[in-house]
Amino acid sequence: MAAINPSQCHSVSSTCPFLGLKVNSRAQQVSLVRKTIGVVKCVATLEQTAYKTNVSRNENLGKLQAGYLFPEIARRRAAHMLKHPDAQIISLGIGDTTEPIPDVIASAMAKRAHALSTLEGYSGYGAEQGEKSVRSAIASTFYSNLDIEDDDIFVSDGAKSDVSRLQVLFGSNVTMAVQDPSYPAYVDSSVILGQTGQYQKDVQKYENIVYMKCTPENGFFPDLSSVPRADIIFFCSPNNPTGSTASRDQLTKLVQFAKKNGSIIVYDSAYAMYISDESPKSIFEIPGAKEVAIEVSSFSKYAGFTGVRLGWTVIPKSLLYSDGFPVAKDFNRIVCTCFNGASNIAQSGGLACLSPEGLEAMLETVGYYKENTSIIMETFRSLDFKVYGGTNAPYVWVHFPGRSSWEVFAEILEKTHVVTTPGSGFGPAGEGFVRVSAFGHRENVIEACRRFKNLFN
Ligand SMILES: Cc1ncc(COP(=O)(O)O)c(C=O)c1O
Repeated sequence: MAAINPSQCHSVSSTCPFLGLKVNSRAQQVSLVRKTIGVVKCVATLEQTAYKTNVSRNENLGKLQAGYLFPEIARRRAAHMLKHPDAQIISLGIGDTTEPIPDVIASAMAKRAHALSTLEGYSGYGAEQGEKSVRSAIASTFYSNLDIEDDDIFVSDGAKSDVSRLQVLFGSNVTMAVQDPSYPAYVDSSVILGQTGQYQKDVQKYENIVYMKCTPENGFFPDLSSVPRADIIFFCSPNNPTGSTASRDQLTKLVQFAKKNGSIIVYDSAYAMYISDESPKSIFEIPGAKEVAIEVSSFSKYAGFTGVRLGWTVIPKSLLYSDGFPVAKDFNRIVCTCFNGASNIAQSGGLACLSPEGLEAMLETVGYYKENTSIIMETFRSLDFKVYGGTNAPYVWVHFPGRSSWEVFAEILEKTHVVTTPGSGFGPAGEGFVRVSAFGHRENVIEACRRFKNLFN
């Protein structure tokens, strides 16, 4: 356990590398010291604890680099706040939603929560796969005419949890391909499961992961002719972080590529509702996808459910392992073993999301963030930056050629007090880019854009 030696806490300077860490009583010394001498510089030492267990650390966790990207950003933000206590910090970084959950949806959850206090309305454990009505509403809302059945849907507590459950399903003996850059949970969960080798600092990649480069040069779609075979291909469209969307033609090529190689695509459609052109909203719009693909998705970015927690995964019955065993049957086992089903209150919210009024309310929320995106895109364009994404996604991918992403992130934070996300945190091909999220109150987005204009004009 990391403990801080108070004798090494000096006054005057302002950064504390331990900010944001959950600490137990031993480290409470830190706040005590801060209270008495105000802003302090804490020089941490790793003090040996008196007692160590005989359990060795999972060596795969030891392979992970630094912190998960977003906690690291939160840490830097906290350090910035200490340095500039009066600054009005605006966060367009982590990608968390800011607008309230529409009333029609929140009311349904309140009603369910209240019903739990009654004999008639009480329910305990539900089906691990989700309530029948919710599975059915997801199938008919998002997959109508795509031949996806209610029992192909597994309701979850969010897409991120399902990414990890899918990794448990695949185990450690598979190879993985990811878009580069990509949402960090795919790579990190792969490392934790032991599918990879060590991190190679020189190329900023883990051994044994296929990084499929997605840059402006290839229209953010990998050159599949040069991509080696992997068992599992994580693919996200609309993409976090680049905001790009794969076309029907590109997804058809991806499905053909998977079929030729006998691979499974894990398709992340968490932002599908942001699509306003003809791009497919589900991988299952592509012929043949049901034999090679799984889809994970979420209510998080549609209904402000980042805190409520509700998502789903689709595994068609026709997706089979090499021995002919259905993947869905194994996933069912994983869900029953590792998960006891999504919260009943959240599922009532999900059902309300999929009512006609709920769908309208979600589209309104999505539309609000899309307007934010346009404001951000126009700002950077007016400053002569090359910007990507944005049209079908709540993320704007801004190019700073020749510069390090972390350096640009730090400059923007220091000079404008706006938190963004450094592109290299999503993979080596993200170097030179910064992701600006459109999740924010309108007035904050406008203010952030005013500050960007002051900085870069
Ligand atoms: C691509 C992508 N997938 C999944 C998630 C996580 O979604 P959830 O909140 O449902 O876990 C995110 C969240 O930012 C995301 O960007």
